Amino acid sequence: EKKEFRQAEVNIGMVGHVDHGKTTLTKALTGIWTDTHSEELRRGITIKIGFADAEIRKCPHCGRYSSSPVCPYCGHETEFERRVSFIDAPGHEALMTTMLAGASLMDGAVLVIAANEGIMPQTREHLMALQIVGNRNIVIALNKIELVDREKVIQRYHEIREFVKGTVAENAPIIPISALHGANVDVLLAAIEEFIPTPERDPNKPPKMLVLRSFDVNKPGTKPEKLVGGVIGGSIIQGKLRVGDEIEIRPGVPYEDHGRIRYEPITTEITSLQAGGRFVEEAYPGGLVGVGTKLDPYLTKGDLMAGNVVGKPGQLPPVWEDLRLEVRLLERVVGTEEELKVEPIKRREVLLLNVGTARTMGLVTGLGKDEIELKLQIPICAEVGDRVAISRQVGSRWRLIGYGFIRE
Ligand code: GTP
Ligand code: MG
Ligand code: MG
Repeated sequence: EKKEFRQAEVNIGMVGHVDHGKTTLTKALTGIWTDTHSEELRRGITIKIGFADAEIRKCPHCGRYSSSPVCPYCGHETEFERRVSFIDAPGHEALMTTMLAGASLMDGAVLVIAANEGIMPQTREHLMALQIVGNRNIVIALNKIELVDREKVIQRYHEIREFVKGTVAENAPIIPISALHGANVDVLLAAIEEFIPTPERDPNKPPKMLVLRSFDVNKPGTKPEKLVGGVIGGSIIQGKLRVGDEIEIRPGVPYEDHGRIRYEPITTEITSLQAGGRFVEEAYPGGLVGVGTKLDPYLTKGDLMAGNVVGKPGQLPPVWEDLRLEVRLLERVVGTEEELKVEPIKRREVLLLNVGTARTMGLVTGLGKDEIELKLQIPICAEVGDRVAISRQVGSRWRLIGYGFIRE
């Protein structure tokens, strides 16, 4: 087998309630611990979306799956199946919009449910998020099974089967595991291979990358002639990008105009590309892609470009300052302890909208039957028909109350 580098070909989300074991499971499957920021280490929770790539390999001798070139179960050489990228999402209820940004990049997801706690508020909210972005490729990992007895595992299994009825996870397999002890992760990998296929991609479609992060990679005090341009990170959801490509970024950079903040699309050139942590000439959908540009790094520092869309000049979707949405409200607020009824949307109310990796506030300016009009605080770049997650402030938190489709 040739040892050439391949980029991950599919994004698999790790979702579920706080502390149910998403990061631990990511580590068990890839060997990578994605909680690296100081605040994540201090608080013991995931705060930012983490990416961890790994090969999925199958042993031709015993048929079991692992990420290792030598089968951990029988010692034979394994065969390469595909390279995947796990997107580790935060489970804390205050980080729901971060989870939603990650969800827009997931081709499939593992919903992690700890056997000792069972279905919790963010289990419901994350499943709803998958439903809203239209993700149907789901595997359920019933984790921490070594903490409970056999009867409890069977009880959880039935609770979960009941819980997913009528949802996008209705036919998802439920795999009992212990992420901490690496127990049954080969069975989970087999389920991922069966239920989370790599989507068919058309590399000739115009490229579209959703930006999740951006950085200034220069060390403080670097001499001006040594400065490198701004770097933007995200996932390509369509087409491909190449070093040397001219790109446009929308909605772009903020500027002040007569006391109002406006946004202007910006064009630049790709000076370097990283995929799966390596420099490449071409990058495709799958995993985190870092795009080096000629932009002033001042524009990209501290995730300032998150939520933008990158593509070829003139080939990106439109930018909306006013939005018309066909709205579907949920019956009940998900994500709270007691499930409150969702009240109708009111004129002049401010809602939180997530579209792709972008988040913005919208002031409701018009109400129709199953339709609302909003004035956006930050404009968004999106197609007609794109899905929008709608949240409302309930108590001290933003909670999902429904979703919408962008109308012309
Ligand atoms: P957030 O990112 O904050 O939502 O949490 P998470 O879902 O990523 O959970 P994380 O992996 O950080 O694990 C939370 C705690 O559960 C840690 O103390 C883990 O060691 C523990 N844990 C994870 N998996 C298992 C398991 O299979 N068994 C046991 N006993 N503990 C586990
Ligand atoms: Mg985590
Ligand atoms: Mg944790």
